[in-house]
Amino acid sequence: MNMVSIIEKKKLGHALSREEIAFFVSGAADGSIPDYQLAALLMAIRLNGMTREETTHLTLAMTSSGDVCDLSAINGIPVDKHSTGGVGDTTTLVLAPLVAACGVPVAKMSGRGLGHTGGTLDKLESIPGLSVSLSEEAFLSQVRRIGLAVIGQTKNLAPADKTLYALRDVTSTVDSLPLIASSIVSKKLASGAQGIVLDVKTGAGALMHTLQDSIELAQAMVRIGCDAGRRMVALVTDMGEPLGSHVGNALEVKEAIDVLSGRVTGPLLEVSLELGARMLMLGGAAKTVSEAKEKLREALSSGRGLETLRQMIAAQGGDPSCCDDTARLPQAKVILPVPAPGEGFVHHMDTIGLGNTAQAMGAGRRTKEDVIDPSVGFVLHKRIGDAVAKGDALATVYARDEQSAIDAIAAIQRQVVITGSRVPPCKLIHAFVTDEAVERL
Ligand code: URA
Ligand code: CA
Repeated sequence: MNMVSIIEKKKLGHALSREEIAFFVSGAADGSIPDYQLAALLMAIRLNGMTREETTHLTLAMTSSGDVCDLSAINGIPVDKHSTGGVGDTTTLVLAPLVAACGVPVAKMSGRGLGHTGGTLDKLESIPGLSVSLSEEAFLSQVRRIGLAVIGQTKNLAPADKTLYALRDVTSTVDSLPLIASSIVSKKLASGAQGIVLDVKTGAGALMHTLQDSIELAQAMVRIGCDAGRRMVALVTDMGEPLGSHVGNALEVKEAIDVLSGRVTGPLLEVSLELGARMLMLGGAAKTVSEAKEKLREALSSGRGLETLRQMIAAQGGDPSCCDDTARLPQAKVILPVPAPGEGFVHHMDTIGLGNTAQAMGAGRRTKEDVIDPSVGFVLHKRIGDAVAKGDALATVYARDEQSAIDAIAAIQRQVVITGSRVPPCKLIHAFVTDEAVERL
């Protein structure tokens, strides 16, 4: 097979065969095709698209480019969920313990922060002592024992995606529906869960900014997952503003514990219940959304959800007493309010900017080698649509030093935009997508 003729074919807008796709994917995984040819092909795909069949072949080839986890030793139907990435998006830490407490095993491999978005592994590592690197044996045995484990990748999952994603990042080819769908779904298929709920974010802080594009991405991913024989559905949820009020690693763990303790309700809990309900249904523990939400609420109010989180933290070497006293989590040195520069209503937020502010404070990495400061970030006190008086605290910053606090305050004052006109609060859940239908919610 000849790489130049594959590039030529896609350049002219023709569909590639399964064999041609398998050829360049294995060449991406083993390094036998040079970066410049892969990059040219990625741009041709970005410009000319792929058919549904091509996207499915691409995803399956990427899945089998590396190891595939076998979770068959787990009783029941192991479920997972995946978010396309957001800010203040701590749903995993809320819903995974609740779903597990309802009897559906959650065997989850999570990722680290990327760009302006946070990552579950970085958040979990803010818990003193906790390890996210478990052997496959320990991972499976923990899920069998307590129903829940959240860890980093144990194996070499979808290595073709590592090569292709790194090239896309530097060739302006990230924003391609078939490339995003195959990248995400190949890793989910390789991680072995039978039931997968996708949380496709939409709005200013998301990969896809318009609802139509977000729905199309959700449909493409769900079709591939179902074609591959997994139970897969998607919710399209809002990322016009951060989901929870807390942004930063230990701060987001604190918020998840506050929600699981019943002290805090609101958008983070609402979206977590919606996603968790679909996980219970895929796992066979409920027939309807209302039955599933009822079970999750019972796990919350009885404290069984928080108890499951406590067990997971202990099993992974962490200090479970942070579940009873969140002051045991890392604490920032400088804590200051962000005064509103004017009066009016919160009109919109620069959500990507807010994610970048948290990153600049030390909550995320700029290079792979950067070390995260688990204690830093901010807590927003206003949401879109809220009335604001001049001098009101828009947020509180948790910083490592005075200068970093001052910089973050100025940034947040620009990123939370106040105008004279009142806008309605953001809708949280926009659509539910299966391989058969799109339900607008
Ligand atoms: N996340 C991924 O894993 N891949 C993409 O292409 C985009 C987001
Ligand atoms: Ca099984």
